[in-house]
Amino acid sequence: MKVSEARQLIQIKAPVLSRRRRVLAHAFNVAEYRKAARKVLPTGIFDYLDGGSEDEVTLRRNRAVFDAWALMPSWGPVSGPATATTLLGKVSTLPLTLTPTGATRLFHPEGELAVAAAADRAGIPYGLAGLSTVPMETIARQQPALERWFNIGLTADGRALQDKLARCEAAGFHTLIVGVDTRALGSRERDLHNGFTAPPALTLSTIADIARRPAWWINFLTSEGISFPNLDPRSAAATSVITPSMWQDILGHSDATSGWKELEALRQAWQGKIVLKGCVNPADVAKAARIGVDAVQLSNHGGRQLDHMLSPMDVLQESRQRVGDSIEIYVDSGIRRGSDILKALALGADACSIGRAYLYGLVAAGSEGVERIIDILAEELRRTMTLVGVSSIPELKARGGEILRDIRHSGEMPATRVSGEMK
Ligand SMILES: Cc1cc2nc3c(=O)[nH]c(=O)nc-3n(C[C@H](O)[C@H](O)[C@H](O)COP(=O)(O)O)c2cc1C
Repeated sequence: MKVSEARQLIQIKAPVLSRRRRVLAHAFNVAEYRKAARKVLPTGIFDYLDGGSEDEVTLRRNRAVFDAWALMPSWGPVSGPATATTLLGKVSTLPLTLTPTGATRLFHPEGELAVAAAADRAGIPYGLAGLSTVPMETIARQQPALERWFNIGLTADGRALQDKLARCEAAGFHTLIVGVDTRALGSRERDLHNGFTAPPALTLSTIADIARRPAWWINFLTSEGISFPNLDPRSAAATSVITPSMWQDILGHSDATSGWKELEALRQAWQGKIVLKGCVNPADVAKAARIGVDAVQLSNHGGRQLDHMLSPMDVLQESRQRVGDSIEIYVDSGIRRGSDILKALALGADACSIGRAYLYGLVAAGSEGVERIIDILAEELRRTMTLVGVSSIPELKARGGEILRDIRHSGEMPATRVSGEMK
């Protein structure tokens, strides 16, 4: 071989010094962003993001359920494929939304603003958490074109509800995501072991952690304190920096006495769209449809609440059968691959929603990291659609039954899976 030919084979690139740039250049899937996020965050914060409740059975199940379905391609021409779809009457570039995750500024100083900007660039809806750390008005001002949804809990306090609805309306959050899976706070035992508090209390172990994760600590200590400006302004946590004991109160607070009556009242009071989030019981899905919600987001809160709870994929077909096409159905909890989205749509979902996946991107590379996670899932979805032989989302939904085979009882399902969540 001549020297000139050999030279063409050698590709020596200058080393990339910025960690963010390195991750963006070298992480190719959600699991690799998770690994990168783990290197950035103090252990207690990473475990708060990543962990599940009690024995984490549901957390593991959320990944394993996707293995129960195998793909059966059919041969024929494919064009595109086109991933655009309509969610609640608005065009979305993907059958994907970013689901609410509270306290996002714990993970990155730009918090929800960075996530909102990425969702806007990608052209998909973003659900802002009630426990978000950036005012909803700021998000509205900075991302006026973003399809913005807001997460509320049901309450019998009529005045607080009216105030919240008026605020959402004024800030252009026309879709409410009503969470119904936090009647009590799940016991996240990793948090108990780590003594997790927000803001992190200065203990001997946090001080040791500062040495290991200096960049996160510098960002954290030099940026504005964490508060929850989208809570009722009468609550102290809305405006002040929260103390560890307030954090417990906020997380544990949920009006467990609220139920269907309050949902009906909300339906009467709210002209916009309603997404009920956090049920997996097909009877509840059917009841919600009769009350007039616009969509149900099947969810077990990413395995963070009731351990041993069913996963959305376990109940998706039955839920769809119960409601027909009368409402939209979304699926969250465990989505890490484009093929997961394809499988959920083939079984009857209209869209999937991600939580931890975009947070890993945020931690590792800020807003660009969130956008990259969305791009990765979009690329994986397009590739999987092409390989199974479908050209569009409507075709995928119509032909879903031909594409999937249930292999739960065929002995083909691997006993264990290398899961992103497993330690
Ligand atoms: C760090 C974190 C905070 C969360 N905060 C909220 C919240 O404030 N409200 C809510 O309805 N769900 C919350 N969730 C649950 C998500 O909306 C969603 O149901 C879950 O993350 C989906 O599972 P996945 O993380 O496997 O994608 C949170 C999840 C995480 C990981």
